[in-house]
Amino acid sequence: MTKRRPLIAGNWKMNGLRADAEKLAEEIASFYSSKKEAGYDLLVCPPYTVMETVYNKLEGSGVLLGAQNCHVSEKGAHTGDISPAMLKDAGCSHVIVGHSERRSDHGETDIDVKAQAKAAQSNGLLAIICVGETESDRESGNALNVVREQVRKSAPETSKAMDTVIAYEPVWAIGTGKVATPDDVQEMHKDIRTTLSELLGQEKAGGIRIIYGGSMKPDNAKELLALADVDGGLIGGASLIAQSFEEITKSC
Ligand code: PGA
Repeated sequence: MTKRRPLIAGNWKMNGLRADAEKLAEEIASFYSSKKEAGYDLLVCPPYTVMETVYNKLEGSGVLLGAQNCHVSEKGAHTGDISPAMLKDAGCSHVIVGHSERRSDHGETDIDVKAQAKAAQSNGLLAIICVGETESDRESGNALNVVREQVRKSAPETSKAMDTVIAYEPVWAIGTGKVATPDDVQEMHKDIRTTLSELLGQEKAGGIRIIYGGSMKPDNAKELLALADVDGGLIGGASLIAQSFEEITKSC
């Protein structure tokens, strides 16, 4: 079986003024760089306004920098948007696309997400493509079908381990303190890998990391990160406190 290096990613969302970002980035850089052989990748995705502040604090620590969204175009008349080339230029190696908050707040569809992922990948960024069912999808027994459809429509056909991560984030678990059961998470991740196999072939699907997000905290990380098809976490709330972020990484 392909060995996949875990990815622990912090999604800061719309949080962090410059002073907060500076402090948090410094603490994260310090705990990661103090490890001799971390054995996992660590990524932070701050808001655009503090990107440079965070970049400066992370320099030399090995912690990776990512963004929370990107436009599909290289440049042009798109007021308020940021292109993949700009993110690359700002020091990013990763970008989250299709987060459920983007899908619900800004009406981004699977078609948009696929175009964003493609644009990111062709600019040398790794796209973290988010998928996940709503509470009513899960209650009606449709979770697997909904997520299968999202993966099929959102992941570019050229995706490979080097430029793609899938983040499974059940919408009802994000920021709510509710977490999917380990059995449900493993079932979903395995199913996502099967869908990826159908789309991209078994070898590529075996190398692509599938990470879990939705109220991952120090006290549930161990159980979740130990699951066979869980290759890391996308962490919101708990990534805003260096100590809890670090605690989670200890389960890798
Ligand atoms: P949460 O957010 O950890 O606060 O639930 C996760 C996410 O939305 O990426």
